[in-house]
Amino acid sequence: MKEMVFATNNPHKLDEIRKIGEGRLRILSLADIDCHEEIEETGNTLEENALIKARFIKEKYGYDCFADDTGLEVDALKGAPGVYSARYAGEGCSFTDNMDKLLTALQGIENRTAQFRTVIALVLNGKEYLFDGVIKGKIIEEKRGSTGFGYDPIFMPDGYDKTFAELGNEVKNTISHRALAMEKLVDFLIFHS
Ligand code: IMP
Repeated sequence: MKEMVFATNNPHKLDEIRKIGEGRLRILSLADIDCHEEIEETGNTLEENALIKARFIKEKYGYDCFADDTGLEVDALKGAPGVYSARYAGEGCSFTDNMDKLLTALQGIENRTAQFRTVIALVLNGKEYLFDGVIKGKIIEEKRGSTGFGYDPIFMPDGYDKTFAELGNEVKNTISHRALAMEKLVDFLIFHS
């Protein structure tokens, strides 16, 4: 079975991709290859950051690898917070700080459309590939729901009247930006193995 490293230590993401590739791919985490260092995300785009992480593992540890980066892109804010989604309200800020900052930035603005976008970079047999997954929706005016993480309580995907945090992980993980990008990646890997 094809063996690859996923440059993450996030157990939820590992779980998600292992389920999608079950029986067809063996996914190793950073801990599995004894990598315990922080990989700095110094890029200005999601693509750059995902590539930085995947290349780092290939160069230093020798494994074929993939890595992801995600951003919330709000149309009225010209795509912000985008690549800076994790630290929108400053270094070390909480998910609540980030949501509060975004709700304040959108106060009085009618256009609340937004999208989550995930980019996955893959380094395989000396070549690099990019896959993306997008889900469109809108930012509602106050937080609703308690599952998930990040901006889930204020993001309502198109076609639903619930936020990601109200839909629950089971539904979210079948329609999310990350799930869409991961499905493209898994299809590609299975086809090429
Ligand atoms: P990462 O690249 O997956 O670490 O995501 C960067 C940031 O985007 C996170 O810290 C969250 O604030 C936000 N984010 C990523 N994925 C999601 C999601 O599925 N729901 C809500 N927020 C997310």
